[in-house]
Amino acid sequence: MIESRRLLLREWRESDLEVFAAMGADEKVMEHFPSTLTPAQSAEFVARIRQHFVKCGYGLWAVECRNGPPFIGFVGLMQVGFDAPFTPAVEIGWRLAREAWGRGYASEAASAALRSAFESLELDEVVSFTVPANTRSWKVMERIGMRRSPADDFDHPRLPEGDPLRRHVLYRMRALDWSLASEPVRD
Ligand SMILES: CC(C)(COP(=O)(O)OP(=O)(O)OC[C@H]1O[C@@H](n2cnc3c(N)ncnc32)[C@H](O)[C@@H]1OP(=O)(O)O)[C@@H](O)C(=O)NCCC(=O)NCCS
Repeated sequence: MIESRRLLLREWRESDLEVFAAMGADEKVMEHFPSTLTPAQSAEFVARIRQHFVKCGYGLWAVECRNGPPFIGFVGLMQVGFDAPFTPAVEIGWRLAREAWGRGYASEAASAALRSAFESLELDEVVSFTVPANTRSWKVMERIGMRRSPADDFDHPRLPEGDPLRRHVLYRMRALDWSLASEPVRD
């Protein structure tokens, strides 16, 4: 369990699945992914998240508001599951229910996850990536102090040539960058 000012990053519960399935069916939430998810695909994804926790001891945590909804989505760390010039690597990622956007929750949870990555798990580096059109996502990367290097842009190997979602931007943060980051970034 990871705590931040307004949020808890915790293990998944069965009761999270209904909201998570609704998120997977929401076209706005899934706008920058190849498709929305059926309830069965969402449940399968949560099963994979749980397996990752068992294997690595960290993963995509379920996010709970301390004084609000018990589940608003996930934020966390995951081993990149494909080969690319920057792998092997651990990525930080997020997906929140639409009602939870625009409140700073993703950035707050992501900063807490980065703290865990560098101060508890002692990782050397964390990366994050998205399609250029996913402005909300790369803004989170910038807010938490990650930096883009255009030379690291890449084509996602799981998407076919010509797919409009294939091109990705890569952001990085090294342990050294974290230790030098200002307190507001780290809070
Ligand atoms: C990506 C995603 C998590 C970003 O959510 P978000 O709400 O835009 O990001 P944050 O939680 O950091 O909130 C930042 C916004 O909250 C506002 N905000 C309001 N109150 C705030 C507070 N107390 N503290 C900080 N920010 C606050 C900020 O001004 C900012 O708004 P702006 O972008 O209009 O300037 C969300 O859009 C999402 O789940 N998208 C679908 C899934 C997805 O694409 N995931 C990424 C795949 S790569």
